Amino acid sequence: MVKRMTAGFIILSVAVVFILTACGSEKKETASDAGSASVENGEETSGGTNAQESPEVSDGKSEKEKILIAYFTWADNTKVDNPDAVDVDASTSASVLPPGNAAMLAGWIQEEAGGDLFSIQVTEPYSSDYDECLDRAADEEAKKARPPLKSRVEDMDSYDIVFLGFPNWWYTIPMAIHSFVEEYDFSGKTVIPFVTHGTGGLASCIDDLKSALPGSVTVLEPIGIYRDDVKSAKPKIQKWIADWRNG
Ligand SMILES: Cc1cc2nc3c(=O)[nH]c(=O)nc-3n(C[C@H](O)[C@H](O)[C@H](O)COP(=O)(O)O)c2cc1C
Repeated sequence: MVKRMTAGFIILSVAVVFILTACGSEKKETASDAGSASVENGEETSGGTNAQESPEVSDGKSEKEKILIAYFTWADNTKVDNPDAVDVDASTSASVLPPGNAAMLAGWIQEEAGGDLFSIQVTEPYSSDYDECLDRAADEEAKKARPPLKSRVEDMDSYDIVFLGFPNWWYTIPMAIHSFVEEYDFSGKTVIPFVTHGTGGLASCIDDLKSALPGSVTVLEPIGIYRDDVKSAKPKIQKWIADWRNG
């Protein structure tokens, strides 16, 4: 009787140990699977899916990669009394009617990368006259002005990546970009600049933007698009975003 009980106890113990071991190894496999699938090109994926295929990531709402696309464009920062009178083919006046050049680029970035759009707007619009706008911009730059902005990004802290777009104004960033970056704590964020320009290229834009941001910000490779090329720049934006994704 005692012998039978001992044998029964041993069989039961072996069974318990077997079940526990099986559960343990199952759990371990799941964890290591997740580990190998979760980092691909430094981006979060789930269950081995490519980051771009993940709906969480592609709409920019992933916890790990929430994207904001903030841009400043003249067209959203001026008032045009008579839009019909604007000669949209004239290179100096083309961008007073929405969508402005930076806005167009922002839209394509959103199509490719997901994320939320935010138009940076000053409280006092610039003149829609090119020369008057040039004068005010030069004056603001000389005075290191910080033109007040109309609205704030809701919950800026939740964004990890900020695509930041603007035109080259007087070889540098519009002063409204200073206002914008000074309104928030950018520490630890990644900033990806996109710039549109006349014939001047990026000039001092990126250096000046970096100086305006805290040292802990990672500023990635910018793209610069000449204003006359903006309308046909979608493929360039697609390639730039793909290159960024592929790290
Ligand atoms: C006030 C002002 C200053 C500008 N300064 C420059 C400049 O220094 N270099 C340059 O290449 N283009 C300059 N431009 C041209 C703009 O960068 C270009 O037209 C840009 O595509 C406009 O983009 P937006 O439509 O998003 O405002 C200036 C435009 C304005 C209105």
